[in-house]
Amino acid sequence: MEIIDGKVLAAKLQANLKIKVDALRAKGLTPGLVVVLVGEDPASQVYVRNKERRATELGLNSKIIRLAETVSEEELLRIIEQLNQDEQWHGILVQLPLPKHISEEKVLLAIDPDKDVDGFHPMNMGRLWSGNPVMVPSTPAGIMEMFKDYGVDLAGKRAVVIGRSNIVGKPMAQLLMMANATVTIAHSRTENLSALTKEADILVVAIGQAKFVTADMVKKGAVVIDVGMDRDEETRKLCGDVDFASVKDVARLITPVPGGVGPMTITMLMEQTVRAAERSALKKD
Ligand code: GUN
Repeated sequence: MEIIDGKVLAAKLQANLKIKVDALRAKGLTPGLVVVLVGEDPASQVYVRNKERRATELGLNSKIIRLAETVSEEELLRIIEQLNQDEQWHGILVQLPLPKHISEEKVLLAIDPDKDVDGFHPMNMGRLWSGNPVMVPSTPAGIMEMFKDYGVDLAGKRAVVIGRSNIVGKPMAQLLMMANATVTIAHSRTENLSALTKEADILVVAIGQAKFVTADMVKKGAVVIDVGMDRDEETRKLCGDVDFASVKDVARLITPVPGGVGPMTITMLMEQTVRAAERSALKKD
């Protein structure tokens, strides 16, 4: 068994990205990422702070716009429209989840697709599903980089994705399909799940339940990717959706939590921001 080290790979990609950012800045183009955070959700606060820190390390312009939980949908849409018009921001990210009185659909639709570094705008989701991706959601994009770096051959392989979210499960399935894997999307309502997962050469787990996947559910020699960010009920420590301690003895390759998918997600977000900045410069030429 080998552990996929997301921290090491993220650092390597980030070093290459820094060279690109330095070159762009020397030409007078500083890529900019603005993050909008509504409310006080503790997990979102941590994610947003990490995004800003990473952007700053890379030499990007970055800003967090913090809005009260009570902000109206109208006001949020107005702010997004201003950011769409502001040329210093090449990437706009509205941290999810949003308070219940605000329509996530309306908000995602309001972001200029060219600045939608999350890849959640229906235009970018449609581009991905039609096989011509422009902005790709960061978590699945980071997982594809892991497969590339660790030489995981996907063509013709059986992949099972547990989780059907727009953020991870659905785009992950499409990226695997584009790499010629045969893909099944499973979820919380799937019957006889372990019969499916036991057939998987590649297993991506994004179901949000601590240590949900156990060794008896995994095919020997499988590649197991854990997108979970959960708390162990007993120890209260951070853990994933996969029971790492038992599954590591069955899998050929496995990601840990923390230190697996998480660092890659942020790195891919930075990469998309830099690419958005490059494209904006081309549009002006
Ligand atoms: N909340 C959890 N993950 C994400 C993400 O990747 N992007 C945004 N905008 N919100 C999230």
